[in-house]
Amino acid sequence: MSYQECINCHEKYGIDEIVYFCKKCGDILEIKINMEKIVETVKNKNYMKTTLSVWRYREFMPIHETTNVVTLNEGGTGLHRSERLGEALGLTDLWIKNEGENPTGSFKDRGMTVGVTKAVELGARHVICASTGNTSASLAAYAARAGIRCTVLIPSGKIAYGKLSQAMIHGAKVLQVRGNFDESLEFVLKLAEKHRSIYLLNSINPFRIEGQKSLGYEICEQLEHNAPDRLIVPVGNAGNISAIWKGFSEFYKLGLITKLPKMTGIQAVGSAPIAKAIKSHSNKIVPVAEPETVATAIRIGAPVSWKKAINAVNESHGTAETVTDEEILDTQKLLAQVEGIFVEPASASSIAGLKKLVRNGVINKNERIVCVTTGHGLKDPDTAVKMCEKPIEVDAEMSAIENALGIKSK
Ligand code: F0G
Repeated sequence: MSYQECINCHEKYGIDEIVYFCKKCGDILEIKINMEKIVETVKNKNYMKTTLSVWRYREFMPIHETTNVVTLNEGGTGLHRSERLGEALGLTDLWIKNEGENPTGSFKDRGMTVGVTKAVELGARHVICASTGNTSASLAAYAARAGIRCTVLIPSGKIAYGKLSQAMIHGAKVLQVRGNFDESLEFVLKLAEKHRSIYLLNSINPFRIEGQKSLGYEICEQLEHNAPDRLIVPVGNAGNISAIWKGFSEFYKLGLITKLPKMTGIQAVGSAPIAKAIKSHSNKIVPVAEPETVATAIRIGAPVSWKKAINAVNESHGTAETVTDEEILDTQKLLAQVEGIFVEPASASSIAGLKKLVRNGVINKNERIVCVTTGHGLKDPDTAVKMCEKPIEVDAEMSAIENALGIKSK
């Protein structure tokens, strides 16, 4: 049987128990999956019978066999060989796993398909989260798909418009809190404890992490059952880096890959408690009271899964780095223009971090590197438009158009 376990004192909880923090020591939980069952699945190659997606790994997920899944076809995103960007950075084997290709435009859908399926399995009729944007967009869509009520708390005026529009059109109750993400998260944690009928779907919920671990599985399969040398990912609340590491670790335990990648987390300078802890070899974070960055998705000062993230980096002999807003925006444009991949600023931070680590000699030019770009560029069109040359307005005449293009009229 699969079960939930405290990451600190290892107290165990049942798979159908609604519990967000360990009742004994207060730390966060993770799912221990039933490895015996999966070993059988792997032996029979059952899991390979469907196309690449989160639910290809149904047997790897802590969901009962008879449960109907709530899905919009998540996962199966492209792993793009990035020769032109690699060349620009002096790298020979660079890949981009583009999570913007998910149904609502971010990696959150991997977690929400499993999280909302679990919510319905548990009989929940009302789900909630705090969010910098993408989590709320995703939860709103999956709650609509499941036909259940959804409430999202977002920091007032600080989330990108694309994401806000998604939460609104899917019919979520949107509360804009006059405060930041960390404060919003505290409220939803308290709400879910106080009103037990409201089910919490922030990444503190370990079922979300189970869905997101499929990102690690997929990368291995797309590289023909090899792990990359290094995995680079933006870090905010730190659920995703923990999830991807769990995915790689489980594939390793199952003998499906023979090595593990160095997990490398990137944060924005103004919101970097985890990167700072790792760089100073500390096992504890110092929360940032007023986080700031143009990459609003990762504008988080007190990441809830910081312990899991530090473990992932340390166990994998990885590292962490910080990047400035300018570096993030420059890289966003570079990626869009040399690879045709348009990502939101938070996503570009993984590649901005890569650039810096190459420059500082931390990364070897022949490493096989996978950068995860976490959200689609259309989530935040305002920032993109501000960075680019304005369109040239011309009269509706051929000569004016030729003139603007600098070509002579014949
Ligand atoms: N990239 C994007 C585009 C995100 O939206 C987030 C997190 C991250 C990276 C960081 O992932 O939190 O798992 O470390 N967004 C959350 C949200 C916090 O509310 O949408 P993480």
